[in-house]
Amino acid sequence: MNYGRIKVEPLAPTIGGEISGVDLASPLDRGLFAEIHAALLDRKVIFFRDQDITAQQHMAFARNFGELEVHPFATPSHIPEMMVIAHGEKNRGNENVWHSDVTFRLRPAMGSVLRGVEMPAVGGDTLFADMNAAYEGLSASMQRMLGELTAIHDFQRTFGRGMSAEKLQEMRREHPPAEHPVIRTHPETGLKSVYVNRLFTSHIVGMNKDESTRLLEFLYSLASIPEYQVRFKWRNNSIAFWDNRAVQHYAVSDYYPQRRVVNRFTIIGDKPV
Ligand SMILES: [Fe+2]
Repeated sequence: MNYGRIKVEPLAPTIGGEISGVDLASPLDRGLFAEIHAALLDRKVIFFRDQDITAQQHMAFARNFGELEVHPFATPSHIPEMMVIAHGEKNRGNENVWHSDVTFRLRPAMGSVLRGVEMPAVGGDTLFADMNAAYEGLSASMQRMLGELTAIHDFQRTFGRGMSAEKLQEMRREHPPAEHPVIRTHPETGLKSVYVNRLFTSHIVGMNKDESTRLLEFLYSLASIPEYQVRFKWRNNSIAFWDNRAVQHYAVSDYYPQRRVVNRFTIIGDKPV
C-alpha cells in the first residue's frame, strides 16, 4: 500500500503502526478513510498521537468503520456507545488478561477505538498480540486439527461474577453462549487467526473437559510470546485502534494507585467464520 496522505511507521514486523499526518477532529474524506482502513488491515493495530478531540469527534471517527455497539455490561456514560474505563486508588485495573473484545456476542467487535484521557506518568501500557502470526507459527498438523474445531464463548466467565441468579438468567437469555470457530478467517484480508481467549472462551465443542482445558491453555499461551507482540506506551490524547478479528490485547495493571482513564467506542463486526 502506498500512502499518499498519512505516514505509517511500523512498530514490529507484523503488527503495530504509528500513524501521523491526520487530525481526527475533522471528518474523514474517502481518500483518508481508505488509507487509515488499509493501515488497520495491514498493521492490525494502529496508533495516533496528540488527538485532543471531543467524545463526539471520537465517536464520529469510529462510526466511519461501522455500526457502534452499546456494551451490555459497562456502566453507562453520558453517551450510550462510549465506555469510560477508569481506574485509580479505589479501583485497581483488571483488564490484564489476554482477550479480544466481546467475543461472547454472536457478532463480536470488529474494532475498538480507545483514547487515553488521563494516563499515569508511567505504566498502564497496552500489549497487543498478532493472532495471525500465532496461527502461522503452528505446525501444519496442529493447524489442520484446529481448523475443524469450534469453541463456546460466554460472558458469564467475566461479567457474571457477583450477578444475582435472576439477573444472570435474564442476561443469559439476551446473550446466550456463542459458538465460534477456533480459527477464524478474516473477512477482509482472508488471513487466519487463533480466536479463543481466556476472558470469554469456556470450552471447545466435542472434546472432553481435560482435552479442552489443556488445548485452550496452550492456545491462550500463544498471545504471551513476545515475537507476536507490540507494546504501546500511552500519553494523554493517544488513540489505539485495533482489529479484534486479528489481535488480542492485554492492559498492563502496574500503575496502581495512579489514575488511568480511557474512553472506548466499539465497532460491531461480522459473525466469525
Ligand atoms: Fe478489551
